[in-house]
Amino acid sequence: MIKGFSKFSQEQKIEALASKYNLPTSFKEVLKSHHHSALQDLYNQFAENTISNFYLPYSVAPGFVINKKEYAIPMVIEESSVVAAASKAAKFWSAHGGFRTEVLSITKSGQLFFTTEWSLEELKDLMPGIESALRNSVRDITQNMEKRGGGIAGFKLTHEARVDEQTFCLMVSFETADSMGANFINTCLEQMGDELVSFLTQRNDTRPVEINMAILSNYTPDCLVQCILSCPVESLRPYSGDYSPQEFAMRFKKAVKLAKHNLSRAVTHNKGIMNGVDAVVLATGNDFRAVEAGVHAYASRSGTYASLTDIILEDNVFTYTLELPLALGTVGGLTLLHPLAKLSLLLLGKPSASELMQIAAAAGMANNFSALAALVTSGIQKGHMKMHLTNILTTLNANAIEYQKAKNYFSDHDVSHSAVKIFLDAERLKEQHRQK
Ligand code: MEV
Repeated sequence: MIKGFSKFSQEQKIEALASKYNLPTSFKEVLKSHHHSALQDLYNQFAENTISNFYLPYSVAPGFVINKKEYAIPMVIEESSVVAAASKAAKFWSAHGGFRTEVLSITKSGQLFFTTEWSLEELKDLMPGIESALRNSVRDITQNMEKRGGGIAGFKLTHEARVDEQTFCLMVSFETADSMGANFINTCLEQMGDELVSFLTQRNDTRPVEINMAILSNYTPDCLVQCILSCPVESLRPYSGDYSPQEFAMRFKKAVKLAKHNLSRAVTHNKGIMNGVDAVVLATGNDFRAVEAGVHAYASRSGTYASLTDIILEDNVFTYTLELPLALGTVGGLTLLHPLAKLSLLLLGKPSASELMQIAAAAGMANNFSALAALVTSGIQKGHMKMHLTNILTTLNANAIEYQKAKNYFSDHDVSHSAVKIFLDAERLKEQHRQK
């Protein structure tokens, strides 16, 4: 065990790791080469025990038309094809009415769990008093939020009888304007917890009240955004490949139905949506773990995990909808602290949190549409492996000439790791013979 690691300087941390795990000098060199020459101190502050930075591609999917406004969407993602798929769908839909999005609700909630021998009925009777005392106890914090258009939206008491008879949850709902609101909600809840204890213990009652925990919930079913794509079935011809647009639309519908009723497929279908959503969430410095947790819980709200999208084919019109919860912010957290997150927001025209919800939903919809369109026609691997070729070549240390030759060869051959390796080995052998 390395003792006192957290107290070491960055240099000492790297030294200690290299010596403890007997790492080659390249370990230190690679870490150092990924340091930022000017902003390392800032990056170090974002987490603890930082020893370097981890780069991911920062890409842009241009040409998105969302509610008639054009955007170039910044995307941070390491998976090949995702940005290309988003851009392709953006281009197609920009000529077919664009992405129509709407924020359906913006409420988030926090939970104050407590244990007491007070009964549910007694607590319910006291709720008006509790509510007003708790609201007053956080007045100094909520006043600012109210000026920005947010604040406390309501209270709900539930009995957690499945845990035990004495456990309750005070669910507090909030609106947090343009911030994701985690800090605001958690600060309010902790202060409310203290107030709840004094409120109940001041009532000449000796029954103790214990706060179990106070924390926001990442389940945000009331912070919802919807995205709709719609066009005449005939317009889908560019995507229909060897099928007619009508056949394509029917195959697409079946794919959506499968994602509604088959759990394994539903998870992959939704993962394709999250390819786009997460890339925007990351690029704008938002909390992708919170978004992921909330989205997948929402996909299970009926008791069965299912697709987040739905489709209607009627009167030769294709209408595809996505609905998902997205608790995002455009102020607070990393959004304006991380230079690239700040830049992303600038590129998006400094959106409000609601606007960002709609942009992220559109990116998710674009990726899902492209994925399904490929899956129900030529399959995903054709396009995917072409994009993946670069990664394989890099892994195999291909030089510029080999890269170009491989690109030519694989323009009409199937790409796979083994096929690329065989091709490169043969090229390298030929080259050795030439040099002899
Ligand atoms: C790959 O990252 C995403 C897909 O698997 C999504 C899907 O299957 O719908 C292609």
